[in-house]
Amino acid sequence: MNKSRNWHMIFNVIIAILSFLSCIILGHVLAALLFELTGKPAELVSYLISAIMGFLIFVGIAKLASEIFSRTKYGRKHNLMRHQFFDSTLEALNKISRGDFNISITINEHDPFSELAESVNKMARELSSMESQRQDFISNVSHEIQSPLTSISGFAALLKSDSLTKQQREHYIEVIETESKRLSKLSDNLLKLSALESENVPLLLRDFRLDKQIEHAILILEPQWIEKNIDIDAEFEKISIHGDEDLLGQVWINLIHNAVKFTPENGLIKIKLYKNDCQIICQITDNGVGISKEDQIHIFERFFKVDKSRDRSLGGNGLGLSLCKKIIELHNGQIIMESELSKGTKFIVTLPK
Ligand SMILES: Nc1ncnc2c1ncn2[C@@H]1O[C@H](COP(=O)(O)OP(=O)(O)OP(=O)(O)O)[C@@H](O)[C@H]1O
Ligand SMILES: [Mg+2]
Repeated sequence: MNKSRNWHMIFNVIIAILSFLSCIILGHVLAALLFELTGKPAELVSYLISAIMGFLIFVGIAKLASEIFSRTKYGRKHNLMRHQFFDSTLEALNKISRGDFNISITINEHDPFSELAESVNKMARELSSMESQRQDFISNVSHEIQSPLTSISGFAALLKSDSLTKQQREHYIEVIETESKRLSKLSDNLLKLSALESENVPLLLRDFRLDKQIEHAILILEPQWIEKNIDIDAEFEKISIHGDEDLLGQVWINLIHNAVKFTPENGLIKIKLYKNDCQIICQITDNGVGISKEDQIHIFERFFKVDKSRDRSLGGNGLGLSLCKKIIELHNGQIIMESELSKGTKFIVTLPK
């Protein structure tokens, strides 16, 4: 489309130059005829007069041509189309300014302003997708805040009763405590995500032992895997890395915690850390519930949980993996996942050496 437009423009320029030259020659001829009658003035003045005559002829012809063109059927149609184009573009821009992004300006590829129309259409599409992401985000956050708050207020109301047994009271207090922790984790993760997504994230880079860090993450999560009688099979090479220790620590905690959460009792989690010539690789494999092919594509999206009700009882907000992905990307690494439903899941993190 652009190529044909370029040729069209070159053709118009050539025609304009040729017409201009013809008018200058015509001006010259007419001036010569005039000088026959009046006598020839000085050389410079005669050149000037013939040039001015040529230019005036050119302007006159151009004006006449455009006047005739605008009166022809084609010219009227052309003007009408241009008016329609500007009207619809203006209307589209007004709609966008009112927050309505559902617009589409009809594009006529021969129109010199078609690129403007394409840009307005593209802008509307992008704004619309940003708007729906914003709405999803708000509804997800509200939902994640609303559910624990409902539990907290419900159980707090129950606690007012005098006829509760000690066991019941302890259970209610425990629920309130868990749900409060969930709320606090949600706000913490949201703050972290928004900080990591801002343009310039200051990474606190330093050298540290990655194998020791992953061992530490396993230890922190010991109560959870011991409770489910899960076996942890760890195979680590001694590896030092230059990275942000705090951020990378969160990656291992979330991946191992997920493996523990989504593996039934007596399961097995294998964690392997090794390196090759240019990469450090960490694999975390579980033999848990696995993730279906349809869900795998959404797994790194914010707030995504495979089974909302089951995952709720496990206490997550669905932000862990999006945080992991962001952190790994900030370290110029990659995180991928392989999984089979009911067989298990493997997360593979690769980091540059
Ligand atoms: N190892 C795994 N096995 C099976 N499903 C998993 C595994 N890891 C993650 N998932 C699925 O992916 C979802 C998203 O995981 P993510 O870590 O982002 O959130 P979460 O663990 O639910 O909550 P959060 O990490 O914010 O506390 C989980 O809810 C779960 O459904
Ligand atoms: Mg998680």
